[in-house]
Amino acid sequence: MRIGVLTGGGDCPGLNAVIRAVVRKGVKEYGHEFVGFRDGWRGPLEGLTMQLDIAATRGILPRGGTILGSSRTNPFKIENGVERIMENLKSAGIDALIAIGGEDTLGVAAKLDGLGVNVIGVPKTIDNDLNNTDFTFGFDTAVNIAVEAIDRLHTTAESHHRALIVEVMGRHAGWIALHSGIAGGAACILIPEQKFSVEKVCEWVESRFKTNYAPIIVIAEGAIPQDGDIVVKDSTLDSFGHAKLSGIGDWLAQEIEARTGKEARTSVLGHIQRGGTPSAFDRVLATRFGLMAITAAHEGDWGKMVALHGTDIVRVPLLSATEKLKAVSPARYKEAEIFFG
Ligand code: F6P
Repeated sequence: MRIGVLTGGGDCPGLNAVIRAVVRKGVKEYGHEFVGFRDGWRGPLEGLTMQLDIAATRGILPRGGTILGSSRTNPFKIENGVERIMENLKSAGIDALIAIGGEDTLGVAAKLDGLGVNVIGVPKTIDNDLNNTDFTFGFDTAVNIAVEAIDRLHTTAESHHRALIVEVMGRHAGWIALHSGIAGGAACILIPEQKFSVEKVCEWVESRFKTNYAPIIVIAEGAIPQDGDIVVKDSTLDSFGHAKLSGIGDWLAQEIEARTGKEARTSVLGHIQRGGTPSAFDRVLATRFGLMAITAAHEGDWGKMVALHGTDIVRVPLLSATEKLKAVSPARYKEAEIFFG
C-alpha cells in the first residue's frame, strides 16, 4: 500500500515519535510505502508532499514539533476543498491516510472516512480532551513543563510575599491545570468546567498568606468567572471557529490586588507548553500509537482511532473521539479542592 501521513492542528511533543513508529513498522514488517503530506490538511488539499521513508525518520524520536509541519486548515471550509483532496490523493496514488491530530483534524478525518477515504486516526493534543482515550501524547510533557514553572514560581512568590498566577493552556478542558496544579501544590486551580468565584479565590489567597506561605494559582486559559465571560485575545476565529484565548490570568491578578491589597502577578506559559522534547511517557505512548495505527491500516480497519484504555492500546471508532469532549469530572476536581487555600 501507499500510505499518506499528516499532522494537523496545534503541534505537540511526540508527533515525530508517531511518524517514526508508523514508518519503521510499515516498511520493515509490512513493506508499505509512505508519502508525507505537509502542514496538516493543507498538504492533501494543495498536493504538498515530502519523502517519508526510514532515512527521513532517523533521529526524530526526541525532537519536538513535527517534521511534516502542521496547520489548522479546514478543507470543509474551502470551496471544492474535499474534491481537491480526493483528486490529489488519487493522482499521488494514495491508498490510505494516517491522520495525527486533535478534535479538528480527526473531525475532518471522520468526515472523509464517511466519504469513502481509507483513514486511521491517531489522537494528539496537549489538552488531553479527546474522548475515548485515557490520555493523548503531549499532555504529560506539557504538565511537566507547567510543574517546573510552578516550582520556580513558589520561591519568587515567597521572597516577595506575592500571589502568583500561572495561566496554562486548556480552552474547554482543565486537564493541564488540574494535573500541574496538584503536582505543583497550587493554592487553587481554576478550570473551564467549573465557573469560579473571585471572592472564594481571594479567601484562599488570604488563607495561604496567613500561614506565611505565598499562594500560587493555576488557571486554565478557558476558565470563566461566575459573573463574567471567557477572556479572548482578539475577535478573530480560526477556520474551525476557535477564538484565541489568554488574558484571564491578568484579569484575576487585578481582581486579587484590588480585593486583598496583596501584590499579584501573572505568568502565561502559552506555547512553551507545546514546544521542545517529549517526556519519556509521551515518547512511549506516541510510539505505541504509531505501531497500532500502521497495523490497523495494514489490516484495512478503516474509520478507527488508536486509543489508550488502561495500559492497552486499542482501536475505537474515529467518530467516538470527537462526539463529545473529555472534560474534568466534578469528582476529579473535588480531589484537588481539599488542598485549596
Ligand atoms: O488545541 C491545543 C491548544 O494548545 C489549546 O489549548 C490552545 O488554546 C490552542 O492550542 C492555541 O493554539 P494556537 O495558538 O497554535 O492556535
